[in-house]
Amino acid sequence: MSAKDELLRQVRTLWEAADFRIKDGARQRKLRPDILRRALGLVMTDDERAASHGLDETCRMREGAKIISPEKLECGEYVWVGENAVLDASGGLSIGSHTSIGLGVYIWSHTSQLTNLTLQNFSGSELIERRPTKIGSGVFIAGPSVILAGVTIGDKCVIAPLTVVNKDIPPYSVVSGNPSRVVKTINEDYIAAERGRVLGKAQATL
Ligand SMILES: CC(C)(COP(=O)(O)OP(=O)(O)OC[C@H]1O[C@@H](n2cnc3c(N)ncnc32)[C@H](O)[C@@H]1OP(=O)(O)O)[C@@H](O)C(=O)NCCC(=O)NCCS
Repeated sequence: MSAKDELLRQVRTLWEAADFRIKDGARQRKLRPDILRRALGLVMTDDERAASHGLDETCRMREGAKIISPEKLECGEYVWVGENAVLDASGGLSIGSHTSIGLGVYIWSHTSQLTNLTLQNFSGSELIERRPTKIGSGVFIAGPSVILAGVTIGDKCVIAPLTVVNKDIPPYSVVSGNPSRVVKTINEDYIAAERGRVLGKAQATL
């Protein structure tokens, strides 16, 4: 038996074991596919892991990345998700094509501080506020950055490492800091020049 089959067998045995079913409420039943997906994700390739979350076959997800409520995620083609990134789609999340989410990036579409402030920190609380978050196409989000619930990031933006995006970002922005601010606005000429520079450099080293 291959190592992969043996791991699958062990996961299945654990899954079916009576003492694993500590509780069997609706929430536990909903969470179990996530647990299984995460366990099996250890032996998947990047594209298998993305497909197991319902992403397009051109997308790749690195190990440890997690999607909360993947059924509410609208995701384009050629999206790359780095190690240990967390994509929260519980309040609605869309990600355009050719966008990369860096290592350890957190993208939120809900916030729950009112459950704490009102001492009502129970699962399923109506005090959890959900706001859809939108990330455009051709966006680069360096890790570890945080994108707060309800934010829209336009197409072809660059988010620098350690940025906290707390407001909408217009297309073609380079953004940095906490709270985030636009440090530069770029355009197609800039992108073409940068493309030429990098390709020129690659040829020079051949
Ligand atoms: C953010 C980043 C992509 C910008 O790179 P770039 O487009 O080549 O930009 P430049 O370095 O030419 O900087 C453009 C402008 O933004 C500013 N800038 C760049 N990074 C910044 C940052 N983190 N904070 C504030 N300003 C920043 C520069 O000062 C510059 O301003 P200027 O035009 O007034 O001089 C790059 O700095 C970066 O951090 N890359 C992430 C690398 C990474 O995470 N790699 C992991 C695997 S992909």
